[in-house]
Amino acid sequence: MYPLIRNRRLRASESIRRLVRETTLTPDDFLVPLFVTEGKGIKEEIPSMPNYFRLSLDNLEKEVKELWKMGLCSVLLFVKVEDKLKDNKGTEALNPDGLMQRAIKTVKNACPQMLVMTDVALDPFSAYGHDGIVAEGQILNDETAEVLAEMSVFHAKAGADFVAPSDMMDGRILTIREALEDEGFVNTGIMAYSAKYASAFYGPFRDALDSAPVDIANVPKDKKTYQMDYANRYEAIKETQMDIDEGADIVMVKPGLCYLDIVREIKNEVEVPVAVYQVSGEYAMVKAAAEKGWLDHDAVMLEQLTAIKRAGADIIASYFAKDFIRTLG
Ligand code: PBG
Repeated sequence: MYPLIRNRRLRASESIRRLVRETTLTPDDFLVPLFVTEGKGIKEEIPSMPNYFRLSLDNLEKEVKELWKMGLCSVLLFVKVEDKLKDNKGTEALNPDGLMQRAIKTVKNACPQMLVMTDVALDPFSAYGHDGIVAEGQILNDETAEVLAEMSVFHAKAGADFVAPSDMMDGRILTIREALEDEGFVNTGIMAYSAKYASAFYGPFRDALDSAPVDIANVPKDKKTYQMDYANRYEAIKETQMDIDEGADIVMVKPGLCYLDIVREIKNEVEVPVAVYQVSGEYAMVKAAAEKGWLDHDAVMLEQLTAIKRAGADIIASYFAKDFIRTLG
């Protein structure tokens, strides 16, 4: 009780603050999302994601070597698929020599120890910009899960360490786990996007991959029949428990900052590592405000990343990974 206890004693200098700090960020916390595109010598800045790029395979190779030197040891790969290769079923996703398969091999050749996780969902391959097959105005669940399972096996064959299904179909973790087991990929892990909300914060990402749902008749204009309603909390626990029961090794909450209550709730409930995806819109907001001189970029970034970890994130997927390393000096 005051005056015997004065909380400010533990805040009196930077040294004591360092000594009693509960949460610290390290390079080991980060999973680095990377956008891969066809071609050579390509490093295209994504307009709504300043200083973030789509990379052709030669530049992907350079990038992962640089990341590894910086102390970052895990990447999450996304591919931008050419329009002419897109259809409703995501046929290109099952091309054994598709861009994702080549990207995995490129990373593993350049940097064998780099942990490679791959996005598993149909939207980059879908002519309609949906994470599943569309039929009569609906997104088909079980048919989509089968394609995702096949896709996962292709990623595993190419050398992926973990597949990361981001689609939110019911039961897809079990379908994928069984397919991996059947093909002998017993050591390929699954990071499940378990509590993934239908969020307006994904806008810049959909620019990056040109993957937004299209506006044509009989195609849903949003992803609300599969991604979660952002008003819901208990449902996030149910989704996450089900994914763990189906074989998920790591679970994820997405987006980050607006969902830290969910992160803590899940962290308290489960015994597997919890990942948080600080998504493209969160990145874009900080970059834009900093460009205008309205916010201090690094200070806000560190506050947000620390908050994500404090909430319970064991892994942070973030476009700020390299910016964070730069702050280490
Ligand atoms: C799609 C996918 C999305 C993101 C990761 N995987 C977008 C979506 O669901 O529409 C978003 C990531 C981000 O915004 O940074 N399967």
